[in-house]
Amino acid sequence: EIVIASTPEDAARIVADRFEQAIAAAGEKGITLGLATGSSPVATYQELIRRHQAGGLSFAHARAFLLDEYVGLPRAHEQSYYRFIRDQFTAHVDIDDAGVLSPNGEAADPVAAAAAYDAAIGEAGGVDLQILGIGSNGHIGFNEPTSSLSSRTRVKTLTRRTVEDNARFFDTVDQVPVHVITQGLGTIGEARRIVLIATGEGKADAVAAMVEGALSAFCPASSLQLHPAVTVVLDEAAASKL
Ligand code: GLP
Repeated sequence: EIVIASTPEDAARIVADRFEQAIAAAGEKGITLGLATGSSPVATYQELIRRHQAGGLSFAHARAFLLDEYVGLPRAHEQSYYRFIRDQFTAHVDIDDAGVLSPNGEAADPVAAAAAYDAAIGEAGGVDLQILGIGSNGHIGFNEPTSSLSSRTRVKTLTRRTVEDNARFFDTVDQVPVHVITQGLGTIGEARRIVLIATGEGKADAVAAMVEGALSAFCPASSLQLHPAVTVVLDEAAASKL
């Protein structure tokens, strides 16, 4: 399902609506959310915070799994995804902080930590609603081009392009970690429902490859073509090459 909104703000409201509907439908049995970092979902998180503060929306019965984490960045670092998701979203709503889980990028054995995280998602019953952004090279999570379409949570090395894209969050490009732990394409594909948000013309090529290109490990987001319940929410700029 492709939804083209007129502005990035409208796109964020549409994604927030999907969250609100899914949380209402889950009721007291609770929902497992899949949360993404990066700038794309931030406006959605702000909208969800607004709705929570206005009184209508509660995350009391929600838990969450993050997609990915940098290896070697302390949790307290403001660009760790552990910190980012709290600063941008979860610390501002009524979700139980102990239920907001992310890969352990500080583990002495990151390979084992990745496998343990994959198992924890399964033991929790899987993700009900996953929000995603997309990298300018078509990555989702940190599954860079050539990632196996059936990959599980594992350690990956970032491409030069992703390091440069993410350098804007750090003082210098040299400070961007090169290794990460990311949910695999197979792991992400097990979420029951997925909503991907992309805004701005910098994402237009990646969006076109994901939606209209071949299913290919060269565009990891094209793996979503295999999923039965994906909504792609775009602004007009991100949709301009469809
Ligand atoms: C980051 C994250 C992804 C994100 C993507 C796009 O590196 N690992 O989860 O979707 O790259 O980031 P942004 O939304 O800031 O453009």
